[in-house]
Amino acid sequence: MEVIIRPTADAASDLVAALVAKELRARPDLVLGLATGRTMEGVYAKLATRHRDDGLDFSRCETFNLDEYIGLPGSDPRSYRHYMDTHLFDKVNVIPALTHLPNGVAADLGAESRRYEGLIKEAGGIDLQLLGLGEAGHIGFNEPLSALRSRTREKALTPTTRRQNAAMFGGKLDDVPKRAITMGVGTILESKRCLLLATGSSKAAILAKAVEGPITSMITASALQLHPRCTVIVDEAAARSLKGKKYYRWIFDNEPEWGKYREEL
Ligand code: GLP
Repeated sequence: MEVIIRPTADAASDLVAALVAKELRARPDLVLGLATGRTMEGVYAKLATRHRDDGLDFSRCETFNLDEYIGLPGSDPRSYRHYMDTHLFDKVNVIPALTHLPNGVAADLGAESRRYEGLIKEAGGIDLQLLGLGEAGHIGFNEPLSALRSRTREKALTPTTRRQNAAMFGGKLDDVPKRAITMGVGTILESKRCLLLATGSSKAAILAKAVEGPITSMITASALQLHPRCTVIVDEAAARSLKGKKYYRWIFDNEPEWGKYREEL
């Protein structure tokens, strides 16, 4: 795992968008794993701009989202399908049939989970998975005590997560679905590369636990410490409680891999 600290949330999102663009240019048929949440909105806006201004091509890219609320059809403005259409898919030239999210209104959610896993396998696995960080320390909707080998399945949401996401439901906690269908921690760990973006002071404490604390199913983001190629990109506010800041800064300022980005950004 490596941690990259950028001065602001905007600069952190810029770096994530630049990394996605680089991978997409190197491999136009990239299998891209996507995340929702407010943190990602900036990244998607920047990718849409890169498509519009620099012709970044999504026409051969296949996408898989981490999760979807149970009970919300894609036509519901609060669904993650709607979020993805609005923030990214409608603004780039991705082929809609190649954009996948779990179906939160499937009659048989177990079968839907297996179908989703099968689709990822058929696509050859996820090349690059974007991840946000929930305040409960989760990735996707892998709430505390999710098995670190879990696969796509139904999951009950914690009160913390439902409160965190209530703003997208007009602040009405009762309207936030109680369950979701999510890729498992095991599914996520099989991605060839993971990029986690966390910004803002509300993520500082949980980020420090996830990155520098012990690996535990209580904080499923900590399982990323097991991933051979995981980059955590944060702003100064989210980095506040990290103990190894000096070393992480040195990495971005000196490692050859980051040289191109030091110049570009
Ligand atoms: C939800 C999503 C996660 C997302 C997290 C962070 O729980 N299921 O995929 O990463 O929220 O959200 P935000 O970026 O709004 O803080």
